[in-house]
Amino acid sequence: MRLARIAIFISGSGSNAEKIIEHFQNHESIKVSLLLSNNAEAYGLQRAARYNIATLVFNKVQFRESDEIISVLRAAGITHIVLAGFLWLIPQNLIEAFPNRIINIHPALLPKFGGKGMYGMRVHEAVKAAEESETGITIHEVNAHYDEGKILAQHKCGVEKSDSPEQIAAKVQQLEHQYYPQVIEKWVTTSL
Ligand code: GRF
Repeated sequence: MRLARIAIFISGSGSNAEKIIEHFQNHESIKVSLLLSNNAEAYGLQRAARYNIATLVFNKVQFRESDEIISVLRAAGITHIVLAGFLWLIPQNLIEAFPNRIINIHPALLPKFGGKGMYGMRVHEAVKAAEESETGITIHEVNAHYDEGKILAQHKCGVEKSDSPEQIAAKVQQLEHQYYPQVIEKWVTTSL
């Protein structure tokens, strides 16, 4: 079977990236080959290094105004791109270079609580303010607009009236860690 090579893009902690790396550690046909970040301080870079995953930090000019990142991905034989807490919009040239091969996770049930500026605790604060009785995660393909690609999976959890945004965040993170790796595996496997 053909080997799929994943590149993970992160901006911060990288806890999802670590779960994904662990999940594919001994996989016969899917390998996490590279972890990239726009943020040199992102803790996820250290997590990746612990697993001997190659890392790369890039800036806005390299990402948005050149084909440099595409060249790096091609040179590494990357077949699929996984966004895991990556905060920059994906430029058109990258989307065209990897059509239907970029996936993202959003910490709410899209189309609710998505779009520009809806990330991190802001999402959970908005869920709390709207008095939602449930929230969850959405895993979707990526297109040129924030949080608008084809939805591949959603998983839900309840929200109690007494839950703080931090408590909501903890429930959602648990779902992310539980489901993102396996949804990625299915998505990659069906596209090989
Ligand atoms: C997650 O909540 C994910 O849904 C969102 O960014 C967060 C990343 O967390 N897109 P981590 O860096 O994986 O810990």
